[in-house]
Amino acid sequence: MPVVERFQFQHLANPAGSIVVAHGERDVPFAIRRIYFLYGVPADQMRGRHAHKTLTQIAVCVRGSCRFCLDDGHERTELVLSKPYEGLVIRPMMWREMSDFSEDCVLLVLASDAYDESDYIRDYEEFKNAVRAR
Ligand code: TYD
Repeated sequence: MPVVERFQFQHLANPAGSIVVAHGERDVPFAIRRIYFLYGVPADQMRGRHAHKTLTQIAVCVRGSCRFCLDDGHERTELVLSKPYEGLVIRPMMWREMSDFSEDCVLLVLASDAYDESDYIRDYEEFKNAVRAR
């Protein structure tokens, strides 16, 4: 089973509301060079279906929930993200598929680098071959 690396955000819960915080390099194990978020993903859509050669990311559902399937080229595992203070670290060379987005889902991603299409592996066979070659 691929190693599932959870990330616990600092969570300041308070009757007046909660704050979730993370510092790049200090809490997050990389310098955050980009953030992006997905929202309004229809329930029947699958996202992801790629791996990255070098990028590391932390994904967190800051609202709602979605399912992640992680595949390290040997085995697959599934998990649901549903807490705004529990992230998932996605290291390089991990195929990911996201599905079952709740209507209200906002999936925030912290990324170690700028967008670079050449860092993507979007073909599953190419991904398997790259894992085998390592
Ligand atoms: P992609 O990373 O494949 O999305 P997901 O994994 O959520 O399915 O990106 C979808 C499209 O958006 C693709 O054409 C590239 C573009 N994109 C950017 O231009 N910049 C970005 O930072 C991201 C994440 C995507």
